[in-house]
Amino acid sequence: MILTIDDLRKRARRRLPRILFDWVEGGAEDEVGVERARRSFEAHRLVPRYGLDMSGRRLGTTLLGREYSLPFGISPTGYTGLLRPGGEHHLLRVADRSNIPYVLSGVSVAPLEQIAAASPGRAWFQLYPARDVRISRDIARRARDAGFPTLVLTADMPVEAKRERDIRNGFTLPLRYTPSLLWDGVSHPAWTLAYLRNGGLPPLGSWAQYAEPGASASQIATFQFAQKYPTQTWADIDAYRAMWPGKLVIKGLLHPKDAQRALDCGADGIVISNHGARQLDRALTPLEALPAIRAQIGGKLALMLDGGIRRGADIAIALALGADFVFAGRAILYGVIAAGEAGANLAVDILSDELSRVMAQLGANTIADLGSDSLAVAAPVSR
Ligand SMILES: Cc1cc2nc3c(=O)[nH]c(=O)nc-3n(C[C@H](O)[C@H](O)[C@H](O)COP(=O)(O)O)c2cc1C
Repeated sequence: MILTIDDLRKRARRRLPRILFDWVEGGAEDEVGVERARRSFEAHRLVPRYGLDMSGRRLGTTLLGREYSLPFGISPTGYTGLLRPGGEHHLLRVADRSNIPYVLSGVSVAPLEQIAAASPGRAWFQLYPARDVRISRDIARRARDAGFPTLVLTADMPVEAKRERDIRNGFTLPLRYTPSLLWDGVSHPAWTLAYLRNGGLPPLGSWAQYAEPGASASQIATFQFAQKYPTQTWADIDAYRAMWPGKLVIKGLLHPKDAQRALDCGADGIVISNHGARQLDRALTPLEALPAIRAQIGGKLALMLDGGIRRGADIAIALALGADFVFAGRAILYGVIAAGEAGANLAVDILSDELSRVMAQLGANTIADLGSDSLAVAAPVSR
């Protein structure tokens, strides 16, 4: 029986070869950040209110000038189409069905133009900087021409993180076909058969044109890897602001001064995030960072948050602490890995059902009703 995100996680673990599941699940170094993200939600206590008519609850909200039916969306995750063939298309359809935003990763298997055309205006586009700045500028130009309404610039990858699980497992993209990987594949036949049926490693759709003509999927992956971790400064972000006519979001900020800098450079929103604790293990959690950032720039741009969302109550807590919107990464990824579109739909339904029940207990008929009043330790936040 699947009742919770953790149930979906267990299904995902059963389906994926361990080397890939570890990559999804893992964090950097000691992985204390992954655990701490969960604990920072659990540290908060909600205060229920009763005797109110809660029959007309609405979970919709406005973000960056658009109405969404739920106060959460789908975080960008690279190589989703490797974890589940067609993964990016599955997530796009899930976002369409639930009327929520889906952030397409800059390292997707599906080409960005395909996703933009499949559901105009639905997906946002996330961009990693490239060492050859002409490539990242060109990708941004293509995203603009394809009609993505929002560009998300990820700021929190100045260097390759020390992800020790991946190093010990020998995980690289392209995958290295070692005896242990082959055994891993044989032990997870459903994933392996789908992988082989789809021709093995899928190419990074948006990157193919920058590699050598006729490059294989492995060569494209190697090319893209060599373009990672350039120096990216605020001057580069200013340049994207100047060329991007739509909404601009900076993802991966935790310091109030960086949030202020994003505001100064004309960003429309930020995602308070520590990349799912995959970059700086000892970083404070996004939820811990939220109050100070809210105090610095709250109300001046859209404040979004991701990291550690596994329950509807987590969403209520983030919103009550002053986030305008949240995103879920692994929670929905587990669903798509476990059962494709149906699994990701189920993940969204689990989170929204739990959130709706929590709101009924809090006397919150709308998202705007969630504020510091709902928290036992009053936060300096009012909505
Ligand atoms: C497997 C995986 C791949 C990811 N790929 C990207 C990516 O391509 N771009 C990006 O900005 N963030 C990426 N992230 C980070 C997520 O967007 C998000 O910040 C993080 O997953 C939030 O934490 P959560 O998984 O606990 O919800 C990735 C995360 C995971 C787990």
